[in-house]
Amino acid sequence: MTLDELEIQCKECKKCALCEGRTNLVFGTGKKDADIMLIGEGPGEQEDLQGEPFVGRSGKLLDKFLESIDLSRDKNVYIANMVKCRPPHNRDPKPEEQDVCINWLREQFKIIRPKIIICVGRISAQKLISPYFRVTKEHGEFIEKNGVLMMGTYHPAAILRNPNNKELAYQDWLKVRDKIEEMGIVI
Ligand code: URA
Repeated sequence: MTLDELEIQCKECKKCALCEGRTNLVFGTGKKDADIMLIGEGPGEQEDLQGEPFVGRSGKLLDKFLESIDLSRDKNVYIANMVKCRPPHNRDPKPEEQDVCINWLREQFKIIRPKIIICVGRISAQKLISPYFRVTKEHGEFIEKNGVLMMGTYHPAAILRNPNNKELAYQDWLKVRDKIEEMGIVI
């Protein structure tokens, strides 16, 4: 199955109640065989309206971090979220919503086969790295899981709320750049 075929199937998804409130399902965007994949939390208002992840204010900041290390959704990364439909009032996705939606994400991983997965924020880090993951303590640390390197970092929305964390987050993205070099990944 190709990513486009998976997206067509996913867009019909009615496996949890989040489908009832969606304008658009936000499947993911970027290079279809990217070595680096970013996983956020879930679509916000702008993402729901436009059908693309991270296109609101926090997305602009994420794009700046990416640009600073020569990455971009147009060139060399793929960006998706833990849940593909917007949770009402931007609440955290519930565990049962994530449990259903993670199956789409797993299929995306199988097709894209990233070498590095960056969890953007607590929600995806706790689901994909460890349920005990603490962003303040463990951000920027790479761990290997099933042959894939994973790292969790600050969510850009959290940085917009607390700009003191911007430098720490920037250091995490520099570590991503170093890791790409170390692994000999051509971006
Ligand atoms: N926040 C996320 O986690 N994902 C998006 O797509 C937008 C905002």
